[in-house]
Amino acid sequence: MNSKKIGWALLAVVLLLTGCKGGEELTEPSLYEEDVATREGEYIVVGFSQVGSESDWRIGSTESFRSTFTAENGYYLIYEDAQQKQENQLKAVRNFILQEVDYIIVDPIVETGWDAVFQEAKDAGIPVILADRSVEVEDEDLYICWVGSSFEQEGIKAGEWLKEYLKKQGRDQEEIRIVTLQGTLGSTAQIGRTEGFWKVLSLQENWVMLAQQSGDFTQAKGQEVMEELLKSYEEIDVVVCENDNMAYGAIEAIKKAGKTCGPEGEIIILSFDAGRAALETMLDGDINAVFECNPQLGPLVSEIIMRLERGETVEKIQYVEEAYFDSTMDLESVIQERTY
Ligand code: AHR
Repeated sequence: MNSKKIGWALLAVVLLLTGCKGGEELTEPSLYEEDVATREGEYIVVGFSQVGSESDWRIGSTESFRSTFTAENGYYLIYEDAQQKQENQLKAVRNFILQEVDYIIVDPIVETGWDAVFQEAKDAGIPVILADRSVEVEDEDLYICWVGSSFEQEGIKAGEWLKEYLKKQGRDQEEIRIVTLQGTLGSTAQIGRTEGFWKVLSLQENWVMLAQQSGDFTQAKGQEVMEELLKSYEEIDVVVCENDNMAYGAIEAIKKAGKTCGPEGEIIILSFDAGRAALETMLDGDINAVFECNPQLGPLVSEIIMRLERGETVEKIQYVEEAYFDSTMDLESVIQERTY
């Protein structure tokens, strides 16, 4: 696929004419005049619609895209933060189309509602690449490919880990009361983790899901929801937190309620993402296990673009590898290498 590369001056004119500030990138010093001179103004223009900044994971993800799609690497990045609102993402994609970018990258907040705007991108001849979360569209040709985590596998891993842990504790016949703090409802991360965990739960006769409620992947909402759940249910054995930040909120709520959690505490805490702060919280004894979700997708998406530029085909679905960690493991070295 041949990229239509446009120069800095032309790009600035296009952005001004379309009335769009072009995200923060127009004023960002990553595109220096000397770069323009040395590269003769040739850039691959990429519009990236990010979910928001709701979690530590998301900060890591933004950093990964920003540090990959630089002028030095031959890109001009137009970054748009949707602040967790799909309507902002739809607007951003339409603006990217107006700006005639070379590629559109979307991390979709929720799976549905994308058919029309992706059709518009396709009609304009602009390839759409999905990163992290995915979409449910009638025609899968509306996007080139998707790269991200197998969220369902993450959920299954969490369920399997819990099963083994309870067995080792001699609690495999006991009634186990579980609550789940879900991510943004309708997002691939929420759907996959919830479904994956249920695949294991539905085979355990002694596990009871008391409640599942969304904490929207944020610490504040996670804490709020957990406070309510602690008021509604006297006995909770396990809290499944569909990301680290909601786990921090849940831990706050548990402590405020005078209860304890982690391997030595009353409530088992499972979390997803496995960011550095979560691993440290596990070292402090408040989390039992974390299931990794890798936010470093920028280089993988750039690799996809390079292949498309060379006219190669790319795989439609590309999963990244992920591990899990629990309190029995040596976490120090993992923490040192953690970038998010
Ligand atoms: O889509 C990935 C999820 O979104 C991460 O688990 C979460 O932390 C983020 O907000």
